[in-house]
Amino acid sequence: MGKHDGKVAFISGAARGQGRSHAVALAREGADIIAIDICANLAAVPYPLGTEADLQETVSLVEKLDRRIVATKVDVRDPAGVRAAMDAGVSELGRLDIVLANAGVMTPCAAEDISEEAWNEVVGTDLGGVFFTAQAAIRHLKRNESGGSIVLTSSTAGEIGIPHLAHYVAAKHGVIGLTKALANELGAFNIRVNAVLPTSVRTGMIENRATVDLFDPMGETDGTLEGVRGTFAAVQVLPLPWLEAQDVTDLVMFLVSDEARHITGSSMRVDGGAITKV
Ligand SMILES: NC(=O)c1ccc[n+]([C@@H]2O[C@H](COP(=O)([O-])OP(=O)(O)OC[C@H]3O[C@@H](n4cnc5c(N)ncnc54)[C@H](O)[C@@H]3O)[C@@H](O)[C@H]2O)c1
Repeated sequence: MGKHDGKVAFISGAARGQGRSHAVALAREGADIIAIDICANLAAVPYPLGTEADLQETVSLVEKLDRRIVATKVDVRDPAGVRAAMDAGVSELGRLDIVLANAGVMTPCAAEDISEEAWNEVVGTDLGGVFFTAQAAIRHLKRNESGGSIVLTSSTAGEIGIPHLAHYVAAKHGVIGLTKALANELGAFNIRVNAVLPTSVRTGMIENRATVDLFDPMGETDGTLEGVRGTFAAVQVLPLPWLEAQDVTDLVMFLVSDEARHITGSSMRVDGGAITKV
């Protein structure tokens, strides 16, 4: 018996990283999955995003667990596309219970140099896309007597004004506001809305040159993530440089579980004390 037998979960940014980790964990607990990902790069984002092959790998991992998955290439900035993918998944899999608005991008850059394109891509994905994902789910979740659970992915940047990430910080702070507003609006329908705030997570978002350079502005290391391990570690209170995707999945799995049935409107940190330290 899995904790989510008979349930269906929608996950954005599911091709790799945290989204894939969440999909596999939910499938292991019996949920069927509706997965979307842009599977393309964005012009102002200086690292490669998930690919169609990555999304296909998520499909294989879920199917190996004997669960069904409907995977579609969609940009979360496209509300009609998100709605269509969600509606198609729900009509194939029968219902919707859990929604993880996880897709996000980051473009490290001094505030004075953030282009309009970079602003629009980051805020459009990390805040707009999160809203459109939650919005598309509302009428499906309202149909359930048992309600549903929405988890929005913010970041330590949702509480800390990290320099060189003004657009990302603005979007991730916005996600926390969105969490509160949606929790208030949907609580009467037994729909819970919470946010997760991870510190750095070892995924494609940080394992790339642009992010490493943010942590090594003088170019004193070999340009790899390992080379800046010490600088990453200095951010947290606990002795760790970064989380693994599974660490965030563990918190998400708690928030969507029955054990968290009385928790809504919360912004929960999985940050090794990074926010406390500031
Ligand atoms: N990695 C970190 O250090 C870190 C820390 C805190 C919060 N986060 C947040 O966690 C979430 C997941 O990131 P990750 O660490 O797994 O990074 P990742 O880059 O490995 O995965 C993000 C996924 O989202 C997809 N995506 C990006 N833009 C999209 C769009 N417009 N439409 C649809 N899909 C899109 C990408 O293709 C990719 O597969 C993001 O919201 C990110 O901001 C990450």
